[in-house]
Amino acid sequence: MKTQSSEYYISEINRLKEEKNAIILAHYYQTSDIQDIADFVGDSLALSQKAASNSADIILFAGVKFMAETAKILAPRKKVLLPDMNAGCSLADSCKAVDFEKFIKANPGRTVVSYVNTTAEIKALSDIICTSSNAVQIVESLPPDEKIIFAPDRNLGNYVLNKTGRDIVIWNGTCHVHEEFSLEAIIRLKKENPAAKIIVHPECELPVRMVSDFIGSTSALLNFTRKDNRKCYIVATEVGIIHQMKKENPEKTYIPAPPRDSTCGCSECSFMKLITIEKIFNCLTKENPEIIIDKNILLKAQKPIRRMMEISEKLGL
Ligand code: 13P
Ligand code: SF4
Repeated sequence: MKTQSSEYYISEINRLKEEKNAIILAHYYQTSDIQDIADFVGDSLALSQKAASNSADIILFAGVKFMAETAKILAPRKKVLLPDMNAGCSLADSCKAVDFEKFIKANPGRTVVSYVNTTAEIKALSDIICTSSNAVQIVESLPPDEKIIFAPDRNLGNYVLNKTGRDIVIWNGTCHVHEEFSLEAIIRLKKENPAAKIIVHPECELPVRMVSDFIGSTSALLNFTRKDNRKCYIVATEVGIIHQMKKENPEKTYIPAPPRDSTCGCSECSFMKLITIEKIFNCLTKENPEIIIDKNILLKAQKPIRRMMEISEKLGL
């Protein structure tokens, strides 16, 4: 197919959305052009909440597969499209259902709290889901003596354990983006910009979290830069979030924290960046690739996700 200009794709996407009663939900880690054509941009929790309550017939998910699957689980009657099925997640991939079943068996009597960054199969094996926005509150909502399995992110799990002091066994998974931030480079950037605050996603390793001024999910980081009165931030999460930060407070400076082995100086999620405006156009035109989940798995996965949504709503998250 002939490649067209981005103006052409954007105007066609807007026409197709109208014609098909479709909405585009985009994660903060998408490229700026995609964030700007989306009907809604958010973090994993806000995107799940939006997927569960909208009047569209089609949801096109500009994000990664586990996010689109979560949307399908919450809105099973809607058609959910993902422009590139290869948009996976190294963290979700680190936790395979066969191995996780063995892990649960090896740690009996524990409540299984799984991060939303998991496949539908892992969600179906879980008691409750969380996102980085609500992980601490979800764990705190459980009775104090409840023993817990937390999967799959070991850094988020360790952060939750430190915050709550609960009895938690943690799956040994990591994200290829957040695991890779260079502590040395962050410290050097802070020396060069002493007035900057270091803001960090909880998927980052402990030493990086320890030098931070604030830890939070992507929307919590955005909110922090919105309300905080400093003018400069060193941002340790995927670089896409900086687009929204700049949009909201263009007078401030945002310095992306670099990964250990980089020459480019910023950190990108290669899976998130598989989604392009051209692929969104093709996907909306053909209504394909579509997310299809085995009915049994979908029904089993619904319960722990809904449990998370109910607790989040009660807590006003
Ligand atoms: P958020 O919960 O901040 O959206 O994080 C999602 C994610 O994939 C982080 O790597
Ligand atoms: Fe997965 Fe990490 Fe990409 Fe988030 S940034 S989607 S956890 S690989």
